[in-house]
Amino acid sequence: MLSSFERLLFIRRVSIFQELRDEFLVKLASAMDELSFPAAHTIFEQGEEGRSLYVVISGRVRVHLGDRDLAQLEKGTFFGEMALFDAEPRSASVTTVETCDCLTLNQLQLIDAIEETPEIAVNITRALSRRIRELNGKINTYEAQLKSVAASKS
Ligand code: CMP
Repeated sequence: MLSSFERLLFIRRVSIFQELRDEFLVKLASAMDELSFPAAHTIFEQGEEGRSLYVVISGRVRVHLGDRDLAQLEKGTFFGEMALFDAEPRSASVTTVETCDCLTLNQLQLIDAIEETPEIAVNITRALSRRIRELNGKINTYEAQLKSVAASKS
């Protein structure tokens, strides 16, 4: 469990919160919940209703669709923002790879933070863009592999 001061120092370094004023960060840090999960614990499943964004304080999680891994996320990264933004069910499941601690932010807290500092929305969009690029790269690799398998059979 982080002390209030450690929590403040930590969220100050998280990319999405970087532009927030100290005064607001202090408020946000004390309002966030801290959760601890054991290894191999499913934090939520694809299709569930989502009410929180999670920031990884320690450990690692995998984002997956059934058995297929989409990404692994580590300290300082976040997940669960999509269901908060589009009010749709969780787009993927998230399961811990090892013991993991997270801070959580609810939809109202996220909207307050964005109203206070709109750059947060830009930071989140940047992270989403990076994730789409990584996904596109994986699709390209996968298609190239399919083509080479098809070529080797013909
Ligand atoms: P959400 O849809 O709320 O719940 C699942 C979360 O997994 C999602 O928000 C994102 O935070 C994250 N996520 C979904 N797809 C990917 C991906 N391709 N790469 C990294 N993270 C993802």
